Amino acid sequence: MKICVIGGGYVGLTTGACLAYVGHKVGIVENNLEKLAVLRSGGLPIYEPGLEDIIRECRQQITFLDALEGEWIESDLIIIAVGTPAKDDGDADLTYLFSAVRDVIAKAEPNRFNTIAIKSTVPIGTNELLVQMFKDEIGKKNVSFVSTPEFLREGFALIDTLYPDRIVVGSRNDRDADLIKEAYLPILTRSFRRPHFVVGNFDKDLPQLIVTTPTSAEMVKYASNAFLALKVSYINEMAMLCDKVGADIEHVAFGVGTDSRIGRSFLRPGIGWGGSCFPKDTSALLKTGEKHGQKLQIVESAILVNNAVKEYFVSIIKDGLGGLQGKVIALLGLSFKPNTDDVRDSPALDIAKRLLDEGALVRATDPMAIKNAMKVLPASDRLRYCADAYEAVTGADAIVIATEWPEWKNLDYGAVSELVRGMFIFDGRNALDKKGLVELGYRYKGVGS
Ligand code: UDX
Repeated sequence: MKICVIGGGYVGLTTGACLAYVGHKVGIVENNLEKLAVLRSGGLPIYEPGLEDIIRECRQQITFLDALEGEWIESDLIIIAVGTPAKDDGDADLTYLFSAVRDVIAKAEPNRFNTIAIKSTVPIGTNELLVQMFKDEIGKKNVSFVSTPEFLREGFALIDTLYPDRIVVGSRNDRDADLIKEAYLPILTRSFRRPHFVVGNFDKDLPQLIVTTPTSAEMVKYASNAFLALKVSYINEMAMLCDKVGADIEHVAFGVGTDSRIGRSFLRPGIGWGGSCFPKDTSALLKTGEKHGQKLQIVESAILVNNAVKEYFVSIIKDGLGGLQGKVIALLGLSFKPNTDDVRDSPALDIAKRLLDEGALVRATDPMAIKNAMKVLPASDRLRYCADAYEAVTGADAIVIATEWPEWKNLDYGAVSELVRGMFIFDGRNALDKKGLVELGYRYKGVGS
């Protein structure tokens, strides 16, 4: 098939690259000329393991464009994957989406079917709204909208796209549903070559194709992300209680998660969830609830607990050190999770801000995310970015683990003990070997452990 993806961001690039890998001819439209130049030169404006390799391998099948034009107007399918950033009030900003849709419709040939698949994460009801907004053009230009929500995780974008649990399609007619099925058939039947540059679990059942209405498809996306976010908040709430009653959340989470009805994933305690999806999607879901007069108390609580656990963690550090004023803190990790340079709504940055507010001096480092972190939280006389962990810990009163990069596990903590001023480790991700560190003479404290 000939498929055109509008938006060369995280989702658009991954979707386009994977659809090319499984055999389609793909156009990717990116109107940011700086990003486009990077893409055309074989580079990537974002970091995602394997993505550069897969694009290189399929280079012949991918065309990078600055606009929807030429033969791509007559694509079999147009996928819109533009950004929908959160506005100050928590609602999603749909400016880019509307302008992309307007552009596609303006160029659409009326003598053929023009199916537009919305892959951007959009508020529930957006697909219906598009039908209302463009009701005159839909008939004249033979346009229809489907909803194809995206479930990929950063750091695992390729495995999640090529080996998904499910593909959800919200459509108003069989023809559109069949079209999406055709596009995803190699993924649904796993009839493509196993890519050597993809990491993750390949031994999964074949994905399910779930065909439903556009609004239900949009709802699946939000209800899934909110559920995962609240699972993490739930275990974090239990972690805070564990500290009070003298239990260890690591054992508790294992005990709880081995119940197959609950499952072990998304029960890793720590300083909470961040990133480009959970914070934005849970806020947007609350907004949708508000608009429709439906209180979403569980989602609201998940957000509250996510803030509370960060506050709690900083209070642990403060109590442990007898105050933070003037204390030097080595902050290891800045990205919202490992294997990404993304710092959007990163709990690590939130912890850095709170430590600075309490008067601490922060020495921060990260294997990937320093550049992005500096844009959000500029270096100052009290915040220094360090090239590596050894530089960050030198002279520190305490080490704080804020993102569970494997690099921190592999540090030589014997050598580190010679560099630090204080032997405190506050592990905000429960990532390190508590027993080994205690044996080395460190005072270790995790979240609920
Ligand atoms: C998420 C969803 O998983 C994905 O399906 C959706 O399409 C986009 O949002 P992502 O934001 O890439 O993906 O990260 P994810 O791995 O889900 O982690 C989100 C946050 O939760 C991170 O900050 C992570 O550190 C935190 N988390 C996750 C925990 O604190 N504990 C866990 O057990 C799992």
